[in-house]
Amino acid sequence: MRRPLIAGNWKMNKLIPEAVEWVAGIQERLPGLPDAEIVLAPPFTHLAVLKLRLENDSLIKLAGQNMFWEPQGAFTGEISGAMLKSAGCEYVILGHSERRLFFHEDDAAINKKILSAQSSELKIILCVGETLEQRNGGQTEDVVKSQLQGALEGIEVDDDLVVAYEPVWAIGTGLTATPEQAQESHAFIRSILGSILTPEDSLKIRILYGGSVTPDNSRDLLGRPDIDGALVGGASLAVEKFCAIIASLN
Ligand code: PGA
Repeated sequence: MRRPLIAGNWKMNKLIPEAVEWVAGIQERLPGLPDAEIVLAPPFTHLAVLKLRLENDSLIKLAGQNMFWEPQGAFTGEISGAMLKSAGCEYVILGHSERRLFFHEDDAAINKKILSAQSSELKIILCVGETLEQRNGGQTEDVVKSQLQGALEGIEVDDDLVVAYEPVWAIGTGLTATPEQAQESHAFIRSILGSILTPEDSLKIRILYGGSVTPDNSRDLLGRPDIDGALVGGASLAVEKFCAIIASLN
């Protein structure tokens, strides 16, 4: 049985006082919501502050939104896996399409980051997904397959790996993959994971959907057999919306 995972990716949003308020709000509401692993990826500067707030809270886990692959050194502006770990992270998001697009991260860089994250004992949420042009050109499967194979080359994958399918055209646009489109891609991703691992082991890996997930569409998406949770951007900023998405697991 795969435990659902709902992750909030705040991107470059919220100041520390707002983040603290959000955490207090979700801590109040979570006990009444369906069981799920809840992961929050705030900006780096908020992590240690939120970790203190979450000290006695095993329900909410923290994630970095990115990291560099080197363990330390003269890399101005970068942050290491060990730093994320010491700030209280259990997870790190890698390969987000905004990293690929704005910061030119390719599969080889993501591969190095995955290796480094593993050596810092961080769990990885690996994002893959096609652009609209690629979808319209019938390339969705080729793109997703090469992203997965490139990112995971030489990596020992275990069931701590989480994959997020995030069609680029659905991120922050209000467009969402239909539940059928998303399910089809998720099943395809699982089949690729099955060829990297074994088909049996691929059944243990959680595949999240991301891209304009809201309380209005989450129930339909989360109800599909290969959709094991959601990576939520915009709708994770409001605690009510994020909780409504968790509630739709019921
Ligand atoms: P969105 O972002 O929910 O705002 O579309 C999702 C993501 O980028 O992870």
